[in-house]
Amino acid sequence: MALAVITGGATGIGAAAVRTFAAEGYDVALLDINGEAGRALEGETHPGRVVFFETDVSKRASIVQSVEAAVAQLGTPDVLFANAGIQKLSSLFDLKDEDVDAIIDVNLKGVLYTVAAVAAPMRDAGRGSIVLMASDQVFAGKEGSIVYGATKGGVAQLAKSLSVELSPLGIRVNAVCPATVKTPLTDVIFENVGQQSFDGDADRAWAAEAQTIPLGRIAAPEEIASVVYFLSQPASSFMTGALVPVDGGFTAQ
Ligand SMILES: NC(=O)c1ccc[n+]([C@@H]2O[C@H](COP(=O)([O-])OP(=O)(O)OC[C@H]3O[C@@H](n4cnc5c(N)ncnc54)[C@H](O)[C@@H]3O)[C@@H](O)[C@H]2O)c1
Repeated sequence: MALAVITGGATGIGAAAVRTFAAEGYDVALLDINGEAGRALEGETHPGRVVFFETDVSKRASIVQSVEAAVAQLGTPDVLFANAGIQKLSSLFDLKDEDVDAIIDVNLKGVLYTVAAVAAPMRDAGRGSIVLMASDQVFAGKEGSIVYGATKGGVAQLAKSLSVELSPLGIRVNAVCPATVKTPLTDVIFENVGQQSFDGDADRAWAAEAQTIPLGRIAAPEEIASVVYFLSQPASSFMTGALVPVDGGFTAQ
């Protein structure tokens, strides 16, 4: 059975990816800090197994421990989706040190250390496909999202340098760059935007966001997961180092 390692797989886009890979018969090692939601997914029935490993990707030792346990239990990973991420909006002048550190630790260092841990057994097997979670902020600036945007720009560069370094080992590395997707992460953000700018009406905040996207709507998590799946398959065998927009045309404007 092929194995996919997915970080941040407990909710949102990651959970959609867990279900996509498990539905296709992959065993999935789900690494997440959210034990309740992770264990709930573990209990679902799919053609492939879902096994939850409680992990804090901001701590390298936690990543290494979970990847070692996953490999011991499920075998060599064929696919890595390094997806775990956090967002905290703040203007430049209100930045808090602890928020800056947390966003960089999870979104950038967490991705780097996850790739290092999972690429080692892939190297030994001589094959693997890695998909990194970036964002439309690889290409576009957004008010209040300075640190998050910087980490996603960093993830894009990781995809490029890692693809060059790992190509000779038979490992491809690409990044997906979604625009706004409806998930628990963005629910919190648009609840706040609704409070601040739309008389407490989050639905109007979502509608205004949809208008910024040429396709005129917000993406569902499954629409990102299907591209991640494509990037993991032989159908994309000549793609590596690519930054793939999945954004309804947002960055085409
Ligand atoms: N939702 C969007 O609009 C959007 C757009 C572009 C990119 N993204 C990116 O997609 C990824 C998934 O976000 P989402 O929108 O599905 O949000 P989400 O909050 O539903 O998912 C994030 C997941 O990461 C996990 N996580 C957070 N901190 C962690 C840590 N320290 N260790 C392990 N797991 C941790 C959470 O528990 C959760 O399961 C993130 O990297 C995010 O930046 C989201």
